[in-house]
Amino acid sequence: MKLSAPRRTAAAAVIALAGLLGTAAPAATASTAAPAPAAASVQALAAPDIPLANVKAHLTQFQSIAAANGGNRAHGRPGYKASIDFLKAKLDAAGFVTTVQQFTSGGQIGYNLIADWPGGDANQVLFAGAHLDSVTSGAGINDNATGSAAILETALAVSRAQLQPTKHLRFGWWGAEELGLVGSRYYVANLPAAERAKISGYLNFDMIGSPNPGYFVYDDNPALEGVFKSYFSGLGVATEIETEGDGRSDHASFKNVGIAVGGLFTGASRTKTAAQAQKWGGTAGQAFDRCYHSSCDNTSNVNDTALDRNSDAIAHAIWTLGTGGTTPPGDTYENTADVAIPDNGAAVTSTVTVSGRTGNAPAALSVGVDIKHTWRGDVVVDLVAPDGTAYRLKNSSANDSADNVIETYTVDASSEPANGDWKLRVQDVASQDSGRIDSWKLVF
Ligand code: TRP
Ligand code: ZN
Ligand code: CA
Repeated sequence: MKLSAPRRTAAAAVIALAGLLGTAAPAATASTAAPAPAAASVQALAAPDIPLANVKAHLTQFQSIAAANGGNRAHGRPGYKASIDFLKAKLDAAGFVTTVQQFTSGGQIGYNLIADWPGGDANQVLFAGAHLDSVTSGAGINDNATGSAAILETALAVSRAQLQPTKHLRFGWWGAEELGLVGSRYYVANLPAAERAKISGYLNFDMIGSPNPGYFVYDDNPALEGVFKSYFSGLGVATEIETEGDGRSDHASFKNVGIAVGGLFTGASRTKTAAQAQKWGGTAGQAFDRCYHSSCDNTSNVNDTALDRNSDAIAHAIWTLGTGGTTPPGDTYENTADVAIPDNGAAVTSTVTVSGRTGNAPAALSVGVDIKHTWRGDVVVDLVAPDGTAYRLKNSSANDSADNVIETYTVDASSEPANGDWKLRVQDVASQDSGRIDSWKLVF
């Protein structure tokens, strides 16, 4: 298929999706004070078509590597290391900064390959990954040369475009997934908390060319899910939520430490239903992949249409999520109007209206509070989400006689839709001293 030149797209949905990852710039609003100026917004670039022939050429390479190494590319076997070497050479030549990470599992050395595209905001890492190992019984072409080849070709497309994304792009190929997500767990376990916090999203691709395919989208993070769903709906292809084992691939390693995850999957040993065959074609009553973990998982065990669509969907996600938005510290929504806090009285609130975002608030929503008070121990402070859920920021304490509450709190608001009226609720619960809410803000 043709490779279209990158161009600006005006798809509003695209900008809104990027917004959930903390980068787009809806107008900041204050309920009474003048609105803070909106940061300049950058529209996402349109992704190129990923040539199916290139992805399939990578599959052929992985098949040859298996054939030359005892028929598999499993952890601890020479076909695995040969697969790593093949990828690394391609990525190095394309200008990626590659790192081979070694670990040990079952007494054998395993390897992860990490490829960073230089540039982008180091504090916002968009990460795509796939496991590179096969089981010992075969070459592992659908499972998971497909995911490995598709993210390789997406990375090479980034290089061909000499893309200058707003986010920092990272690609990862994991070892020993088949032994229990060993490589990806090792990577995450060895990533300092500060580095984990920079990952805005991890996208996983494990089995994306099943011969009797379904189109399954992971449903963890609404923005990551949305970017895939909107791509497929644009193609007129129905999707379903992935349910064939939520913790069964490398995204679980990231999700377990609170990183937003997404991904695609075309099905393993489960059987395609009649309803699924109706909407996707293929054979009802047959497994999505009859060669799952078998010796017949070779280059014939791939549905080209599924592989093509999923490869294009990956590029779409990387371009959409990676090139839109603005730079940190993020979008600020502030109310600078004073609200008096009556002494030992009723709770008072100050409202900040958030609009124009998609999906939920961040797992690390920053709440900046500036309360002037002559005895802050009297003061109880909550953040109240649009649906009324209260998050306690500060309790009262009889002996804290200091002035003022000027603090930045971090709240896990990831279960709350971002848009709506957020309130800072403050109550003075003991007599003699009083104060005011001076200002407060949410930073998404
Ligand atoms: N990860 C499994 C494997 O490699 C396959 C699998 C089963 C899977 N269920 C899944 C992958 C759900 C992604 C999502 O054998
Ligand atoms: Zn797999
Ligand atoms: Ca008081």
